[in-house]
Amino acid sequence: MITFDPVQKTLKLDSPNSSYIIGIHEEKYLLNLYYGAYLPDNNLWGNAVRAPFASFSPRNPHNDSFSPDTAPMEYGCNGSGDMRISALSVRNCFGNTTTDVRYVSHRIYAGKPDLFPLPHIYLNSDEEADTLEILTEDIATGAQAVLYYTAFRKLDVITRSVKVVNNSKEPMDIERAFSMNVELPSMDFDLITLYGTWNKERTCEKRRLVHGIQTIASKRGSSSHMHNPFAAFLRHGAGEEQGDAYGFSLIYSGNFEISAECSFQDTTRIIAGINPTDFGWHLEPGESFQTPEAVMVYTDKGLGEMSRIFHRLINNNLIRGRYKTEKRPLHINNWEATHCDFDGEKLFSIAQCARELGIEMLVMDDGWFGKRNDPTTSLGDWYPNPEKFPDGLDNLIKKIHALGMKFGIWFEPEMVSPDSDLFRAHPDWIVHCPNREPSIARSQYVLNMSRADVRDHLFGTMYAFLLENPVDYIKWDFNRNLSDAASALLPPERQKEFFHRYVLGTYDLMDRLTRAFPGILLESCSGGGGRFDGGMLYYSPQIQTSDNTDPIERLTIQFGTSLCYPASAMGSHVSASSRTGYVTKGNVALWGDFGYELDPTELSNTDREIIREQVKQYHQYYHLIQSGDLYRLIDPNDDPYKCAWSFVASDKSEILAAAVIMRENHKTRFVLKLAGLEKNRYYRNEENGEIYSGALLMNAGIDLTNVIRKDGESVLMHFTSV
Ligand code: DGJ
Repeated sequence: MITFDPVQKTLKLDSPNSSYIIGIHEEKYLLNLYYGAYLPDNNLWGNAVRAPFASFSPRNPHNDSFSPDTAPMEYGCNGSGDMRISALSVRNCFGNTTTDVRYVSHRIYAGKPDLFPLPHIYLNSDEEADTLEILTEDIATGAQAVLYYTAFRKLDVITRSVKVVNNSKEPMDIERAFSMNVELPSMDFDLITLYGTWNKERTCEKRRLVHGIQTIASKRGSSSHMHNPFAAFLRHGAGEEQGDAYGFSLIYSGNFEISAECSFQDTTRIIAGINPTDFGWHLEPGESFQTPEAVMVYTDKGLGEMSRIFHRLINNNLIRGRYKTEKRPLHINNWEATHCDFDGEKLFSIAQCARELGIEMLVMDDGWFGKRNDPTTSLGDWYPNPEKFPDGLDNLIKKIHALGMKFGIWFEPEMVSPDSDLFRAHPDWIVHCPNREPSIARSQYVLNMSRADVRDHLFGTMYAFLLENPVDYIKWDFNRNLSDAASALLPPERQKEFFHRYVLGTYDLMDRLTRAFPGILLESCSGGGGRFDGGMLYYSPQIQTSDNTDPIERLTIQFGTSLCYPASAMGSHVSASSRTGYVTKGNVALWGDFGYELDPTELSNTDREIIREQVKQYHQYYHLIQSGDLYRLIDPNDDPYKCAWSFVASDKSEILAAAVIMRENHKTRFVLKLAGLEKNRYYRNEENGEIYSGALLMNAGIDLTNVIRKDGESVLMHFTSV
C-alpha cells in the first residue's frame, strides 16, 4: 500500500512487514525518514532534519536549520551542500556538476511500469504491487529525476529505479545516476558482500561498517566473478533467523557499484547503481536516461528470511518463459569429459549411456564449430565442423531426439577469435580504441554489442542455425572481460556511454532470441559464475554457478549464492574430478539445477548405481528444492568442519535436509537442529520411519554423530508430515 499524508507531508510505502517513509520538506527536499519494520503511523520529522551547529555543513539559503549534508536525503545530489557520496550528478550547460533536484509532484497507482529494454521485476497482475512516481527537478538547470518505487502487497519488497530527463533547452551530461539511495539513522551494521574469482564465486565476506565509504564494484563490463551486485546489511546482534536484515540487489549485468557511507553523524547512506567510473550519458533537450532497477528487502527475521524473500521474488517476478514452471531437464554436459576433443560419435556414445542412467538431455559444449579443437580459434564461425559431424549436426540431433533425449548446445555469441572468418571479414567489429592494439584474453576479442549491425549479424546467424538445428537448450557463455572500451559509432561526447550500451546490446540479442525461440531453455554462463545476476536471470532462468564442481568447495559458493539467488537459478553439476565420492557430489549438486559433467561410459558399476539413485532423487525432490523455502542450518563460513541446509515445503509438510562433513572433527558430537517447521506437527523420517515433533527436530535436533563423520561424508534426510 502507498499513501500520501498531506498534513505530515509524507509518502508511505508499506509491505506486510516493512515501511518506507519519504518526507517532503518545506523547501521541497525529499527525505528518507524511515526504512524498517512496519509502522502504523508516520510522525517522524523529529530531529532528522535539524542541522547540527557547525558551519562546515552548508545550509539552505532560506532555512538555516536545514543542511542537505546532515539530513537523510532521499536521492543525494552532488555539489549542493550534501558532502556524502552522491546518487545523482549532472554536468549542466554551464559546465558545473552542482545538482539539486527537489519535489515537484507525485502519483500513486496500482501495478508497475515496464522498464523495457532493461530487465526488471515484473508483476503477474496489477494486484501484486503499487507504484509511486515522484517527479523532482533542479530548477536552475532543468535536470529532472523521476523516482520510481514499487511496493509489493504480499512480499516485503520495494523495487526502485530512476529516470533522468533533460527538461531544458541545452544539452547536459549525467555523470552519476544511481538506482537507489537509502538512509539509515545508525551505523550498527555488518555489511555482507559476495566476493570471489573464477572457481570461487560469491564467497560471503562480512565487515563491520566504519566511518567513510565502503564499496564493492565492477568495471569489467560484466557483473563479474569478483563482486556480485548484491549487498546485505545485518544489524549487530542479528543472525540467520532473527534480527534486522536489509538486502539490496541490482538487476544489472554490467559495471556496478554498491557503496555505504557512514557519516560523522553515525548515519549510513547506501547507494546502488551503474558504476560511475567510465560512465556518462549525454542528454540532448527532451532526452531521458533510465537506470537499471534495484530491489530492496527488509525483514526483522534475519538473513535467512531476507534470502527467502529474494528467492520468492526471483522465482515469481523475474524468471520468465516456459521454464518458469516447467520442470528443467536433467542434463549431461560433455565439457569436463572431453573439452574440445570430441565428435558426433563420441557425443552419441555419451548420450546413449546417459539415457540408460535416466538422464534427459545431452548438452554439447564448446568445440563443435568452425575449426575449434582448442580455445584459440573460430569463435564467431557458428557452423558445425564437418570433420566432427560428417553426417551433419542435424542428424546427430535427430539421433539424440530418437533416444528420447533433448539436445542442448554451447554458444559464446559476444566473442570472436582473431583466427576466424568473422574477424577476417569484420576486424572493426571488435571492442577497441583508435590507434591502440586491443588486449586479448583467452585468445579472444569482444564483439562490440553496442552496434546494431553486429547484433543483427549475430541474430541472423543464430536464427538460421536454430531453424536448421532444432536444439532444446542453449548455454550462453562469456569468457573474458572488456578492455579498450570504445565504439567507433559513438561521437567523442558519448564514448562514456559505451559500457552501458554494450550491456543493452547483449540484452537486446538475448531478448530477440528468446522471443524467436520461446521453447529453448537458456542457461547463462561466464567462465562458470562470472555473470550471475538478476539481469541475466530475466532472460535465462538458470546460470552456471561455477566451473568448480568439487562438492566441498561448492559449499561456500552455494551458501554465498543463496543469499540472494534461489536454487532454481543455480546450475549445479556432478563431475568426475573431485575430492569426494558420488554420493556427496550428488547431495551437494541437488541444491540447484542438477546435471552431470562427465563421461558416463567410464563410470564404475557402483557409481552407475549411485547415479541411478540420484536421478530418482532429482525427480522426487525437484519441486521441494525449486520452490521450497531454503533454511541455511550450518554455514561453512562459520564452522570449519561441517555444514548443513534444508528445503522446507511452503505448507511445511515436507523437508529435505542435507549435511556434509568438510573435515573430520574427532570425538565431537554432531547434532543437527532443523528450522522452519511447525513445532506441533509430527514428521516421519522417510529413511527409517521414526516420527518426531517439529519442536523436537528444531530444539533437540537429530544426532548425526554416528551417521556421518569422515571427510567428505554427507547425508540427505527426507521428512514428511504425518
Ligand atoms: C567456460 C564454462 O564455464 C565451461 O563450462 C565451458 O563451457 C568452457 N567455458 C568452454 O569454453
